[in-house]
Amino acid sequence: MEFSEVVRKRRSIRDFDERPIDKTILKAIVEEAQWAPSWVNSQPWKVYIATGETLKAIKKEHLAKVQAGENGYSDFKHAARESFGAYPLKNMQILNADLGAYLKNDFSEFSAAQGRLYRCGAAVYITIPKGAPEWAIMDMGGFEQTLMLSAANKGIDSIPAYEFVKYPDMVRRYLGIPENELVAIGVGLGYVSDNAMNGYRSPRAALDDMLVIKD
Ligand SMILES: Cc1cc2nc3c(=O)[nH]c(=O)nc-3n(C[C@H](O)[C@H](O)[C@H](O)COP(=O)(O)O)c2cc1C
Repeated sequence: MEFSEVVRKRRSIRDFDERPIDKTILKAIVEEAQWAPSWVNSQPWKVYIATGETLKAIKKEHLAKVQAGENGYSDFKHAARESFGAYPLKNMQILNADLGAYLKNDFSEFSAAQGRLYRCGAAVYITIPKGAPEWAIMDMGGFEQTLMLSAANKGIDSIPAYEFVKYPDMVRRYLGIPENELVAIGVGLGYVSDNAMNGYRSPRAALDDMLVIKD
């Protein structure tokens, strides 16, 4: 696939068909993501992937927690939208309005998708060491995006989501993640289902709003 095609093909999918992903493919995606750059080549990320019975158990317990109204307590503090600053806040408001129009303001299926972890075929959890500097978070983000692009190039869809990491103790327990690692983000991988919600494509800010080139 052409690179620009891969970049545009990656978008967040919120309903997969629950089909598992071959382990050889999962390994190839992670191996490709390892070529992401990092501070002094520190490669601060580690990867834990839930599939099969482990994923099934995580999905079941996650849904029970959501249905019981248990608040999330992610290792990275959940942040109020306003705290991101005026420009990102405006972009979030545009997304809300645009998505609302697409869903005819019926967010019920969208909300339900969160609780069932998007019926993903594999849940990828990325950790970094506890107490690592902000640069490590930057490195991890590059790794995460490379992983999703690699997946897209192999015909596998994805979603990066806070939803995966809102109950980190549960994730630690199922995957044996040590206490000295932060469960930074989860990425759902899978094969897209025919759910109408998946037809949504989020907008992007105009270049004039975010780019300065000065001679
Ligand atoms: C760190 C991070 C956390 C996210 N958490 C969620 C989430 O919990 N639920 C969700 O539906 N989407 C989540 N998303 C997906 C974003 O909403 C999505 O990336 C954004 O709207 C842009 O759309 P696109 O990924 O389809 O290009 C998250 C994305 C990132 C990068």
